Amino acid sequence: MDFPALLAASVARVEAGLDRHLPAAGERPARLHAAMRYSLMGGGKRLRPVLLLAADDLSAAGPAKADPVPAAVAVECLHTYSLIHDDLPCMDDDDLRRGRPTVHKAYDEGTAVLAGDALLTHAFALLGNAYAEKPILATALVRELGEAAGSRHLIGGQMEDLLAEGKASATADELDFIHLNKTAAMLEASLVMGGLTGGLAEPHLTTLRTAGRQLGLAFQIIDDILDATADTATLGKTAGKDAKDGKTTYVKLHGLEASRRFANECTDRALAAIASLPGETGFLRTLATTMAKRGA
Ligand code: IPE
Ligand code: IPE
Ligand code: MG
Ligand code: MG
Ligand code: MG
Repeated sequence: MDFPALLAASVARVEAGLDRHLPAAGERPARLHAAMRYSLMGGGKRLRPVLLLAADDLSAAGPAKADPVPAAVAVECLHTYSLIHDDLPCMDDDDLRRGRPTVHKAYDEGTAVLAGDALLTHAFALLGNAYAEKPILATALVRELGEAAGSRHLIGGQMEDLLAEGKASATADELDFIHLNKTAAMLEASLVMGGLTGGLAEPHLTTLRTAGRQLGLAFQIIDDILDATADTATLGKTAGKDAKDGKTTYVKLHGLEASRRFANECTDRALAAIASLPGETGFLRTLATTMAKRGA
């Protein structure tokens, strides 16, 4: 199979897993479960779960491996919760996400807060349930996702993103803190969690961490570039929003050209790390280069 077909197959595997592992839309309270599914099943590139499955695929089938799909679903639930809350009026105040009205627009703010809360908690319940027979793996997955999603990483990055809003003179250090934590930490965790379900040991987990961090930084730099250069229809979210809100972005601090260069450098560092991983790394390599081309 060629890369687009492999990618489509991986996305389909994720979407089937999401459908399988989420409460039915009609389950009580139906408004909450419908809102969870509205946000989760309404498109999205599925990049984090695809990365997780790709890392899992590096190792051959055997007793050291576990089904990676529940972990991939947990990562996408966590990510989607972060988007629902990111879009709230008290955060970025966005009306459009994944080409549709944001959850607080389609439903209401209270439902959006609760749908986000529920996806966040569901991620950890799912890890605990799906890997109950492998408690060492379950603990490692919960620890990895919990660290990445917590106040030292994702939430910490979101906090500094808000604190830096409208700041005329944010430093490059503040910018990197924001991007490495609000975004790169989750890509890092996705690759490491795939390494864990695949039964990879150190030093490969550390290599996956390095690759994920670099891919994640490139990804957020490109998100900043696209906010400034792409249109709303292409993005499925409101373009030009970062400049309007005075967000601290790579484009604001470094300009478009240098941002593209930084993103390419991060991608090159990720590719160098990927090259030293075991197994068939072709898919991961092409995924990394495809991600980099988004902002070109
Ligand atoms: C959006 O993430 C938030 C960022 C970290 C830039 P994605 O661009 O992966 O959003 P979806 O999941 O495809 O909608
Ligand atoms: C969002 O960053 C990061 C998280 C949701 C954790 P952005 O605010 O740049 O993401 P978009 O542009 O709204 O997708
Ligand atoms: Mg934001
Ligand atoms: Mg936002
Ligand atoms: Mg953005």
